[in-house]
Amino acid sequence: MTQSILSIDKLSISIGGSRILRDVSLELSANHVFCLMGRNGVGKTTTLKGVVGLYKPNSGQVVFEGRDISRMPPEKRVLAGIGYVPQGRGIFPHLTVAENLFIGAVAKRTKTKEALERVYSLFPIIKDFLPRKGGMLSGGQQQQLAIGRALLTEPKLLILDEPTEGIQPNIIDQIGEAIKLLKKESMTILLVEQYLEFCKELADNFAILDRGNVVAQGPVGELTDIVVKQHLTV
Ligand SMILES: Nc1ncnc2c1ncn2[C@@H]1O[C@H](COP(=O)(O)OP(=O)(O)OP(=O)(O)O)[C@@H](O)[C@H]1O
Ligand SMILES: [Mg+2]
Repeated sequence: MTQSILSIDKLSISIGGSRILRDVSLELSANHVFCLMGRNGVGKTTTLKGVVGLYKPNSGQVVFEGRDISRMPPEKRVLAGIGYVPQGRGIFPHLTVAENLFIGAVAKRTKTKEALERVYSLFPIIKDFLPRKGGMLSGGQQQQLAIGRALLTEPKLLILDEPTEGIQPNIIDQIGEAIKLLKKESMTILLVEQYLEFCKELADNFAILDRGNVVAQGPVGELTDIVVKQHLTV
């Protein structure tokens, strides 16, 4: 039996008067990798922001570990166990790698040695570059730093918004390996991704959004060429 960790139930979100999400429902099983896909501008990031609390829903619910968190402020959701790596990474270029890293831990006021050692072993580059400015790192290294920062909050659910966007292949591989390892350590991962092969390799389940609606979902084995052609190719 798989246990649900996150239910998004008929979530609708409007921004500046226009409806961006319409009755989006998704179910994430604990210890699974869930890949949310869709073309540009269909509402993937908006869905994630609804889960982390950066947008308030017009209607619908977000339930995390059996608790309705729809009205909970973002910092409380971090404490509840939701880690978030935003699209574009959100690294502060003028802060050092170390400072960027510990901003994550501040949210939870823990800086456990184990969590830190885990981040260093997943991404050794972070340890090597601690005194450098964040802005001096490559895009891929910044992505690793952003993931490391989220991991220091010791999440049960890690949310990644397009971690492979604009990143060189060898670092994409490292990020894929890190996701596999985290899953092995029983983390749940919600991944927004447009890189199809990355999704197919890592995900257990997928959903596709189109103009704010869920148009397909299921086990990743059902992500066939027909489905891809219908909903993902431009
Ligand atoms: N702050 C905002 N103000 C107005 N419109 C917005 C805002 N944020 C998002 N939108 C609109 O909402 C829609 C969905 O945006 P969202 O960022 O969720 O898409 P996405 O699927 O993540 O796209 P991408 O693949 O380009 O990241 C888009 O049409 C976008 O223009
Ligand atoms: Mg987006």
